[in-house]
Amino acid sequence: MTEVSVVKDAVPAADDLVVLKSVNKHFGALHVLQDIDLTITRGEVVVVIGPSGSGKSTLCRTINRLESIDSGDIRIDGKPLPAEGKALARLRADVGMVFQSFNLFAHKTVLENVMLGQLKVRKTDKKQAEEKARSLLDRVGVGTQADKYPAQLSGGQQQRVAIARALAMGPKVMLFDEPTSALDPEMINEVLEVMQQLARDGMTMVVVTHEMGFARSAANRVVFMADGRIVEEAVPDQFFSNPRSDRAKDFLSKILHH
Ligand SMILES: Nc1ncnc2c1ncn2[C@@H]1O[C@H](COP(=O)(O)OP(=O)(O)OP(=O)(O)O)[C@@H](O)[C@H]1O
Ligand SMILES: [Mg+2]
Repeated sequence: MTEVSVVKDAVPAADDLVVLKSVNKHFGALHVLQDIDLTITRGEVVVVIGPSGSGKSTLCRTINRLESIDSGDIRIDGKPLPAEGKALARLRADVGMVFQSFNLFAHKTVLENVMLGQLKVRKTDKKQAEEKARSLLDRVGVGTQADKYPAQLSGGQQQRVAIARALAMGPKVMLFDEPTSALDPEMINEVLEVMQQLARDGMTMVVVTHEMGFARSAANRVVFMADGRIVEEAVPDQFFSNPRSDRAKDFLSKILHH
Protein backbone atom coordinates (compact mmCIF):
# COMPACT_ATOMS: atom_id res chain seq x y z
CA MET A 1 0.00 0.00 0.00
CA THR A 2 1.94 3.01 -1.16
CA GLU A 3 -0.69 5.27 -2.59
CA VAL A 4 -2.62 7.73 -0.51
CA SER A 5 -6.26 7.73 -1.35
CA VAL A 6 -8.06 11.06 -1.62
CA VAL A 7 -11.33 9.44 -0.62
CA LYS A 8 -11.82 9.65 3.12
CA ASP A 9 -14.47 8.39 5.47
CA ALA A 10 -17.34 10.72 6.32
CA VAL A 11 -16.26 10.95 9.97
CA PRO A 12 -12.93 12.76 10.18
CA ALA A 13 -10.16 10.86 11.93
CA ALA A 14 -8.94 12.42 15.18
CA ASP A 15 -5.54 13.16 13.69
CA ASP A 16 -6.78 14.95 10.57
CA LEU A 17 -5.31 18.42 11.07
CA VAL A 18 -5.96 20.27 7.80
CA VAL A 19 -8.97 19.22 5.75
CA LEU A 20 -9.98 20.80 2.44
CA LYS A 21 -13.19 19.60 0.84
CA SER A 22 -14.36 20.53 -2.66
CA VAL A 23 -12.52 23.83 -2.50
CA ASN A 24 -13.00 26.16 -5.48
CA LYS A 25 -11.42 29.52 -6.09
CA HIS A 26 -11.59 31.88 -9.07
CA PHE A 27 -9.61 34.95 -9.99
CA GLY A 28 -12.10 36.53 -12.36
CA ALA A 29 -12.64 34.03 -15.15
CA LEU A 30 -9.65 31.95 -14.06
CA HIS A 31 -10.60 28.84 -12.07
CA VAL A 32 -7.40 28.57 -10.00
CA LEU A 33 -8.49 25.91 -7.51
CA GLN A 34 -10.81 23.25 -8.88
CA ASP A 35 -12.54 20.88 -6.46
CA ILE A 36 -9.55 20.47 -4.21
CA ASP A 37 -9.86 17.64 -1.68
CA LEU A 38 -6.85 17.33 0.58
CA THR A 39 -6.44 15.95 4.07
CA ILE A 40 -3.22 16.42 6.01
CA THR A 41 -2.79 14.42 9.17
CA ARG A 42 -0.94 15.55 12.27
CA GLY A 43 2.80 15.16 11.83
CA GLU A 44 2.57 14.66 8.09
CA VAL A 45 4.92 16.43 5.67
CA VAL A 46 3.28 17.11 2.31
CA VAL A 47 5.31 18.51 -0.56
CA VAL A 48 3.30 20.30 -3.26
CA ILE A 49 4.82 20.51 -6.71
CA GLY A 50 3.60 21.45 -10.16
CA PRO A 51 4.12 23.86 -13.03
CA SER A 52 4.07 27.63 -12.63
CA GLY A 53 0.54 28.95 -12.34
CA SER A 54 -0.95 25.61 -11.26
CA GLY A 55 -2.31 27.10 -8.02
CA LYS A 56 0.25 26.00 -5.42
CA SER A 57 0.64 29.40 -3.77
CA THR A 58 -3.09 30.04 -3.89
CA LEU A 59 -3.67 26.69 -2.17
CA CYS A 60 -1.30 27.65 0.66
CA ARG A 61 -2.82 31.10 0.95
CA THR A 62 -6.35 29.75 1.32
CA ILE A 63 -5.25 27.54 4.23
CA ASN A 64 -4.47 30.57 6.41
CA ARG A 65 -7.11 32.69 4.72
CA LEU A 66 -4.84 35.14 2.99
CA GLU A 67 -7.24 34.28 0.15
CA SER A 68 -10.94 33.58 0.56
CA ILE A 69 -12.55 30.67 -1.29
CA ASP A 70 -15.68 30.66 -3.47
CA SER A 71 -17.03 27.30 -2.34
CA GLY A 72 -16.04 24.27 -0.33
CA ASP A 73 -14.81 23.89 3.21
CA ILE A 74 -11.46 24.23 4.97
CA ARG A 75 -10.94 23.10 8.54
CA ILE A 76 -7.95 23.31 10.82
CA ASP A 77 -8.10 20.87 13.71
CA GLY A 78 -11.83 20.40 13.12
CA LYS A 79 -12.69 24.11 13.09
CA PRO A 80 -13.74 26.10 10.02
CA LEU A 81 -11.56 29.08 9.13
CA PRO A 82 -12.73 32.30 10.81
CA ALA A 83 -13.42 35.19 8.42
CA GLU A 84 -12.01 38.08 10.43
CA GLY A 85 -11.06 39.65 13.73
CA LYS A 86 -9.22 38.11 16.65
CA ALA A 87 -10.21 34.60 15.64
CA LEU A 88 -8.50 35.12 12.29
CA ALA A 89 -5.35 36.44 13.98
CA ARG A 90 -5.29 33.31 16.14
CA LEU A 91 -5.78 31.13 13.08
CA ARG A 92 -2.82 32.81 11.43
CA ALA A 93 -0.80 32.03 14.54
CA ASP A 94 -1.88 28.38 14.42
CA VAL A 95 -0.94 28.19 10.74
CA GLY A 96 2.62 29.46 10.38
CA MET A 97 3.61 30.67 6.94
CA VAL A 98 7.02 31.18 5.41
CA PHE A 99 7.23 32.86 2.01
CA GLN A 100 9.84 33.14 -0.69
CA SER A 101 10.44 36.74 0.38
CA PHE A 102 11.26 36.75 4.06
CA ASN A 103 8.81 39.49 5.07
CA LEU A 104 10.61 40.43 8.26
CA PHE A 105 9.93 43.83 9.82
CA ALA A 106 12.88 45.92 8.59
CA HIS A 107 12.84 48.41 11.47
CA LYS A 108 12.78 45.80 14.20
CA THR A 109 15.70 43.70 15.37
CA VAL A 110 15.79 39.97 14.74
CA LEU A 111 14.86 39.36 18.38
CA GLU A 112 11.95 41.84 18.21
CA ASN A 113 10.70 40.19 15.02
CA VAL A 114 10.47 36.85 16.80
CA MET A 115 8.91 38.35 19.96
CA LEU A 116 6.27 40.54 18.32
CA GLY A 117 3.55 38.01 17.50
CA GLN A 118 3.95 36.32 20.86
CA LEU A 119 3.31 39.65 22.62
CA LYS A 120 0.46 40.88 20.39
CA VAL A 121 -1.46 37.73 19.48
CA ARG A 122 -0.51 35.15 22.10
CA LYS A 123 -0.29 37.77 24.91
CA THR A 124 2.82 36.09 26.25
CA ASP A 125 4.65 38.15 28.87
CA LYS A 126 7.79 39.90 27.71
CA LYS A 127 10.36 37.86 29.61
CA GLN A 128 8.89 34.56 28.43
CA ALA A 129 8.59 35.81 24.86
CA GLU A 130 12.24 36.82 24.85
CA GLU A 131 13.36 33.47 26.26
CA LYS A 132 11.38 31.61 23.66
CA ALA A 133 12.65 33.86 20.86
CA ARG A 134 16.27 33.34 21.90
CA SER A 135 15.91 29.59 22.15
CA LEU A 136 14.24 29.42 18.71
CA LEU A 137 16.93 31.63 17.18
CA ASP A 138 19.53 29.25 18.63
CA ARG A 139 17.60 26.30 17.25
CA VAL A 140 17.69 27.69 13.69
CA GLY A 141 21.35 28.66 14.08
CA VAL A 142 21.14 32.46 14.24
CA GLY A 143 21.24 33.04 18.00
CA THR A 144 24.26 35.36 17.69
CA GLN A 145 22.35 37.63 15.27
CA ALA A 146 19.55 38.50 17.70
CA ASP A 147 20.33 42.21 18.05
CA LYS A 148 20.92 42.92 14.35
CA TYR A 149 18.40 44.24 11.85
CA PRO A 150 17.18 41.96 9.03
CA ALA A 151 19.13 43.85 6.34
CA GLN A 152 22.36 43.03 8.16
CA LEU A 153 21.75 39.28 7.69
CA SER A 154 22.24 37.02 4.67
CA GLY A 155 19.16 35.73 2.85
CA GLY A 156 19.58 32.29 4.39
CA GLN A 157 19.82 33.79 7.87
CA GLN A 158 16.77 35.99 7.28
CA GLN A 159 14.76 33.01 6.12
CA ARG A 160 15.75 31.08 9.25
CA VAL A 161 14.59 34.06 11.34
CA ALA A 162 11.28 33.97 9.45
CA ILE A 163 10.94 30.29 10.37
CA ALA A 164 11.76 31.06 14.03
CA ARG A 165 9.17 33.85 14.01
CA ALA A 166 6.46 31.50 12.76
CA LEU A 167 7.49 28.80 15.27
CA ALA A 168 7.34 31.31 18.13
CA MET A 169 3.55 31.31 17.83
CA GLY A 170 3.41 27.59 18.57
CA PRO A 171 1.73 26.76 15.24
CA LYS A 172 -0.14 23.52 14.62
CA VAL A 173 0.97 23.46 11.02
CA MET A 174 3.62 25.27 8.99
CA LEU A 175 3.16 26.30 5.36
CA PHE A 176 6.25 26.97 3.26
CA ASP A 177 5.83 28.56 -0.17
CA GLU A 178 9.11 28.17 -2.07
CA PRO A 179 11.16 29.17 0.97
CA THR A 180 14.50 28.70 -0.80
CA SER A 181 13.68 30.07 -4.26
CA ALA A 182 15.01 33.56 -3.58
CA LEU A 183 18.23 32.32 -1.99
CA ASP A 184 21.73 32.07 -3.40
CA PRO A 185 22.62 28.40 -3.92
CA GLU A 186 25.05 28.22 -1.01
CA MET A 187 22.31 29.29 1.41
CA ILE A 188 19.65 26.85 0.30
CA ASN A 189 20.92 23.92 2.34
CA GLU A 190 21.07 25.76 5.65
CA VAL A 191 17.35 26.52 5.30
CA LEU A 192 16.45 23.03 4.09
CA GLU A 193 18.32 21.53 7.04
CA VAL A 194 16.23 23.57 9.48
CA MET A 195 13.10 22.32 7.69
CA GLN A 196 14.37 18.72 7.73
CA GLN A 197 14.89 18.96 11.48
CA LEU A 198 11.43 20.44 11.95
CA ALA A 199 9.97 17.52 9.99
CA ARG A 200 11.90 15.04 12.13
CA ASP A 201 10.59 16.77 15.25
CA GLY A 202 7.07 15.95 14.09
CA MET A 203 5.83 19.32 12.78
CA THR A 204 2.94 19.11 10.33
CA MET A 205 4.17 20.79 7.16
CA VAL A 206 2.93 21.77 3.71
CA VAL A 207 5.89 22.68 1.52
CA VAL A 208 5.78 24.09 -1.99
CA THR A 209 9.27 23.58 -3.37
CA HIS A 210 11.36 22.74 -6.39
CA GLU A 211 13.91 21.00 -4.15
CA MET A 212 13.29 17.41 -5.12
CA GLY A 213 16.00 16.15 -2.76
CA PHE A 214 14.00 17.61 0.11
CA ALA A 215 10.80 16.07 -1.26
CA ARG A 216 12.43 12.65 -1.48
CA SER A 217 13.95 12.70 1.97
CA ALA A 218 11.45 14.65 4.09
CA ALA A 219 8.02 14.23 2.51
CA ASN A 220 5.51 11.60 3.52
CA ARG A 221 3.52 12.46 0.43
CA VAL A 222 3.95 14.38 -2.80
CA VAL A 223 0.94 16.25 -4.19
CA PHE A 224 1.24 17.15 -7.86
CA MET A 225 -0.92 20.04 -9.11
CA ALA A 226 -1.64 21.19 -12.65
CA ASP A 227 -4.22 23.72 -13.88
CA GLY A 228 -5.77 24.18 -10.44
CA ARG A 229 -6.29 20.48 -9.78
CA ILE A 230 -4.59 17.82 -7.73
CA VAL A 231 -3.65 15.50 -10.57
CA GLU A 232 -1.72 12.92 -8.63
CA GLU A 233 -0.54 12.16 -5.10
CA ALA A 234 1.74 9.44 -3.85
CA VAL A 235 4.62 8.69 -1.51
CA PRO A 236 7.82 10.26 -2.91
CA ASP A 237 9.49 7.02 -4.09
CA GLN A 238 6.45 6.01 -6.04
CA PHE A 239 5.84 9.48 -7.46
CA PHE A 240 9.41 10.02 -8.65
CA SER A 241 10.05 6.52 -9.97
CA ASN A 242 6.64 5.79 -11.38
CA PRO A 243 4.48 8.86 -12.04
CA ARG A 244 1.12 7.82 -13.51
CA SER A 245 -0.20 10.93 -15.25
CA ASP A 246 1.27 12.38 -18.45
CA ARG A 247 1.32 15.81 -16.79
CA ALA A 248 3.50 14.55 -13.96
CA LYS A 249 5.78 12.60 -16.32
CA ASP A 250 6.23 15.69 -18.47
CA PHE A 251 6.87 17.91 -15.44
CA LEU A 252 9.41 15.52 -13.93
CA SER A 253 11.27 15.08 -17.20
CA LYS A 254 11.68 18.86 -17.37
CA ILE A 255 12.86 19.43 -13.83
CA LEU A 256 14.98 16.30 -13.36
CA HIS A 257 16.85 16.29 -16.68
CA HIS A 258 17.40 19.91 -17.52
N1 LIG B 1 -4.29 37.95 -6.88
C1 LIG B 1 -4.45 37.38 -8.10
N2 LIG B 1 -5.26 37.94 -9.02
C2 LIG B 1 -5.44 37.37 -10.24
N3 LIG B 1 -4.86 36.21 -10.62
C3 LIG B 1 -4.03 35.60 -9.74
C4 LIG B 1 -3.78 36.17 -8.44
N4 LIG B 1 -2.92 35.35 -7.79
C5 LIG B 1 -2.65 34.34 -8.64
N5 LIG B 1 -3.32 34.48 -9.80
C6 LIG B 1 -3.30 33.55 -10.94
O1 LIG B 1 -3.75 32.30 -10.45
C7 LIG B 1 -3.02 31.24 -11.03
C8 LIG B 1 -2.38 30.40 -9.95
O2 LIG B 1 -1.40 31.20 -9.32
P1 LIG B 1 -0.46 30.65 -8.16
O3 LIG B 1 0.39 31.78 -7.74
O4 LIG B 1 -1.28 29.97 -7.13
O5 LIG B 1 0.40 29.54 -8.96
P2 LIG B 1 1.70 28.76 -8.50
O6 LIG B 1 1.46 27.33 -8.76
O7 LIG B 1 2.07 29.16 -7.12
O8 LIG B 1 2.81 29.28 -9.54
P3 LIG B 1 4.40 29.54 -9.34
O9 LIG B 1 5.05 28.19 -9.45
O10 LIG B 1 4.77 30.41 -10.49
O11 LIG B 1 4.59 30.20 -8.02
C9 LIG B 1 -2.03 31.88 -11.99
O12 LIG B 1 -2.57 31.86 -13.28
C10 LIG B 1 -1.91 33.30 -11.47
O13 LIG B 1 -1.58 34.19 -12.51
MG1 LIG C 1 3.69 30.14 -6.28
